[in-house]
Amino acid sequence: MAIIVTGGAGFIGSNFVIDWLSQSDEVIINLDKLTYAGNLHNLEALNSNPNHIFVQGDIGNIKFIDRLLSEYQPRAVVNLAAESHVDRSIHGPEEFIQTNIVGTFRLLESTRSYWSNLDQNKKDEFRFLHVSTDEVYGSLDSDAPGFAEDHQYAPNSPYSASKASSDHLVRAYHHTYGMPVLTTNCSNNYGPYQFPEKLIPLVIYNALAGKDLPIYGNGLQIRDWLHVSDHCSAIRRVLDKGAVGEIYNIGGLNEKTNIYIVNTLCEMLDKTRQRKDGKSYAKQITFVKDREGHDQRYAIDATKIKSELDWSPEYTFEKGIQETLKWYLDNQDWVANVVSGEYQNWIKAQYV
Ligand code: NAD
Ligand code: TYD
Repeated sequence: MAIIVTGGAGFIGSNFVIDWLSQSDEVIINLDKLTYAGNLHNLEALNSNPNHIFVQGDIGNIKFIDRLLSEYQPRAVVNLAAESHVDRSIHGPEEFIQTNIVGTFRLLESTRSYWSNLDQNKKDEFRFLHVSTDEVYGSLDSDAPGFAEDHQYAPNSPYSASKASSDHLVRAYHHTYGMPVLTTNCSNNYGPYQFPEKLIPLVIYNALAGKDLPIYGNGLQIRDWLHVSDHCSAIRRVLDKGAVGEIYNIGGLNEKTNIYIVNTLCEMLDKTRQRKDGKSYAKQITFVKDREGHDQRYAIDATKIKSELDWSPEYTFEKGIQETLKWYLDNQDWVANVVSGEYQNWIKAQYV
């Protein structure tokens, strides 16, 4: 038995692969293009694990995916590969269209052809699990209830629009061809191996480097933060128990403003890594120009996954953020390694 995971060298993907292999003997084929966001260092602990097979490739390369499916005969494909950063999608949407829409379409095509040739038992048991985001639903007013699975799609950024398109394609492959798909829409993740272009790792990195901590607009936008290991356990649960064709929203029951997140990190750093001048890291907070089309609030109504699949997050935010900060402090080599030439170009384009 084997499963294919795409994007398994990225933030959530590498956590998922490590997590999977810590609880299962099943082979995992990890397919990743290794864009700027993919990093094999994340997977070093698996170097001697024969159940982890890494293959570099593009989800948009049908012939390559055909060969992979035929060689490994997986019982499932878990699709995490994507361009994932909203700000990059604003600077240059093309890659988002190519990977998130065209890539997902080709992965679906290839998988459909493999799946339709399986014998009936294997066909029934096969799953295509598509990992998506709560950002497809757009922005919520401050007093509105969280996004449930039947919330209308209203994506506002090129990133969320590309993910919304991929969700629709996945849905259509079930409706039209009967493919056994599952879709998850999750809130903002944080934890180890997150690329320091996203808010939490960026703030930790900048704080220690003595750089500005950039807050877009007034910092009062709200995200629902979920520890990545809870997202991984939710994906496993949906793969295992989810009903074919269904969507499951995953959230952390943990809405915070951006300014709260940054202040919390500053206070924690003040206690663990005091600045040389004894002042607070909060001194480095700088309010910068707002993101174009910035969504004000995301929140998840996770009733369905709780009541139907008995899943809820285990991490409190306090525990998760403490562990995450500790991980970044203990793994400064990892950070130094990823903030290479390409990273510097991005920081210049976005913040200077
Ligand atoms: P990430 O950017 O850290 O990783 C993406 C991975 O996909 C990288 O390893 C990259 O090399 C790979 N990849 C990109 N294009 C590819 C292609 N064409 N073919 C094969 N591999 C390719 O992203 P992440 O934060 O780990 O997100 C993973 C998935 O989860 C994405 O689909 C994202 O939309 C979704 N998601 C993320 C969050 C979040 O907070 N990070 C929340 C909800 C959903
Ligand atoms: P991000 O981590 O990019 O995730 P997303 O845009 O997918 O929610 O950003 C989280 C929030 O933090 C979002 O409201 C934008 C804000 N933000 C800043 O204020 N400053 C920054 O430098 C970054 C990267 C994000």
